[in-house]
Amino acid sequence: MTFALPAKPADLAPRGSIACVGLGMTLGSHLSPLARSHIQSAEVVFAALSDATVERWLEHIHPNVRSLQPYYREWVEVMMAEVRAGKRVCAVFYGHPGIFAWSPHEVIKVARAEGFQAHMEPGISAEDCLYADLGIDPGRLGCQHYEASQLLFYETPINPCAYLVLWQVGLVGDRSMARFSTGPEYRQVLVDVLSRDYPLDHEITIYRGATLPVEQPRIRHVALRDLPATKVDSDETVVLRPAAALRANHAVRERLAALDRGMVSPD
Ligand SMILES: C[S@@+](CC[C@H](N)C(=O)[O-])C[C@H]1O[C@@H](n2cnc3c(N)ncnc32)[C@H](O)[C@@H]1O
Repeated sequence: MTFALPAKPADLAPRGSIACVGLGMTLGSHLSPLARSHIQSAEVVFAALSDATVERWLEHIHPNVRSLQPYYREWVEVMMAEVRAGKRVCAVFYGHPGIFAWSPHEVIKVARAEGFQAHMEPGISAEDCLYADLGIDPGRLGCQHYEASQLLFYETPINPCAYLVLWQVGLVGDRSMARFSTGPEYRQVLVDVLSRDYPLDHEITIYRGATLPVEQPRIRHVALRDLPATKVDSDETVVLRPAAALRANHAVRERLAALDRGMVSPD
């Protein structure tokens, strides 16, 4: 037998709430109807967007948009202050709010732990645009995504038979958490790590998806060895196509064939 818990009286539940929504990458065309409705029904809207033009566009949807940029290290506390004050808060992030973004996940965790309603509404990320613009299907050969510095800070096994997508290469190797870019020497360390799995003449793609409707995606190809001498901007993502062919797993294929024939598998 199951018992339903009595509903919490409405006047005991904290009133504030937060929705973290994604604006997508390209201004105007990627915003979902649900994300738009979260923005329009909010009392306070915070914004962490790709540029000032996008922020101004958002002001057409809601009159009270506050930029999170000046509070770089305190985003979670700034948002939670309004939630705790009982406000219906919407935080708008470019792309998908949950992809390579710490504070949307964190603020949702903190809000829920304090008993507030919190929700994440997905958006079209740089990852989605990259698949479309570069003609990559992650399901064909597999696709691994890493924050570039992770490959330097940790022993990270790479599968060269699959695509490799590296985020935040413009900042690779930064340990200070205080910089917005790092230089050629840092990209050289990345190349040295990647060269364990990829030949130095392996072609890599440096990709920037369009953020304004008038823009085209920017797609540059360079050899891996030339990455240190190639400036990578903070809004670019690096893609390595597979460097090795998939290898057949004969033992497992044989086991599956035995199942297909209605036989008992060897183990
Ligand atoms: C903090 S993450 C934010 C990602 C974002 N949440 C999303 O869903 O795309 C920043 C990284 O996203 C990637 N990025 C941002 N803007 C981009 C763009 N216009 N084109 C390609 N990659 C982009 C870069 O790798 C950049 O270093």
